[in-house]
Amino acid sequence: MTQIISIHSFRGGTGKSNLTANLSVAVAQQGKRVGIVDTDIQSPGIHVIFGLDEDKFTFSLNDYLWGKCTVEETAYEVGGNLVDGEGNPANIAGNIYLVPSSIKAGEIARILRQGFDVGLLNDGFHELIDTLELDFLFIDTHPGLNEETLLSIAISDAALIVLRPDRQDFMGTAVTLEVARKLNVPNLMLLLNKASPSFERRSLEQQVTERYGAPMAGLFYENDEMLQLASSGIFGLHYRDHPFTQEVQQVAQQLLQMQS
Ligand SMILES: Nc1ncnc2c1ncn2[C@@H]1O[C@H](COP(=O)(O)OP(=O)(O)OP(=O)(O)O)[C@@H](O)[C@H]1O
Ligand SMILES: [Mg+2]
Repeated sequence: MTQIISIHSFRGGTGKSNLTANLSVAVAQQGKRVGIVDTDIQSPGIHVIFGLDEDKFTFSLNDYLWGKCTVEETAYEVGGNLVDGEGNPANIAGNIYLVPSSIKAGEIARILRQGFDVGLLNDGFHELIDTLELDFLFIDTHPGLNEETLLSIAISDAALIVLRPDRQDFMGTAVTLEVARKLNVPNLMLLLNKASPSFERRSLEQQVTERYGAPMAGLFYENDEMLQLASSGIFGLHYRDHPFTQEVQQVAQQLLQMQS
């Protein structure tokens, strides 16, 4: 059974795209066929982390939503080109197919102005799963709640909600969580990112659990290496033994267990 995993946060910049990219790679390293759709139409970006240049993609998610192409034509295999910190091939056992959103100002403006058929987006997800025979479909989202985030929450086997230890994030996360609970998502996973290294895991875990009545599925500390990499690659391939990478592997294991 294909697992649909959507990644959300109420506020922006929590680390969704980097976590999506790293989790996708960790799962693909186990030989899985993985799809990623960038539904952040307003401010796309995950293609940058995978090194997929704008001029290298002919079609984007926008073109599919405008009926210009099939959804398969918007999917680019990015797993084969990934490299480690030394520039050596990463040799990922599985496959990663990325559907980017357009980065052209005019195309972003058009979709925001005209809107699009959310039903078509849903059809596109399922068509990708079937034609590419995916084991996992990851959906990277725009922060906050909108039509496409609601759709992706509703159809997910797991919703990963990313938050920072910040009061504004705490409030907003409660809203996202409430929606996800109403939509009966089978697995709700809270990922705490950018935690100050001065906070202990146990106390952060206790705070999250008490506040949300849901377990903290992953804890990621703010770190300099991530700031230095600055979304120019897959962190887990550049820093294989880093605590951030180990935590990505731990969350990926939870996702892999859902599939088996
Ligand atoms: N644990 C971390 N430590 C340090 N920097 C981090 C960490 N996690 C993410 N970042 C940095 O935070 C920035 C935002 O990350 P990212 O783009 O993944 O967030 P996002 O939630 O997808 O943002 P948006 O809401 O704009 O889509 C990036 O520069 C990234 O390198
Ligand atoms: Mg993002």
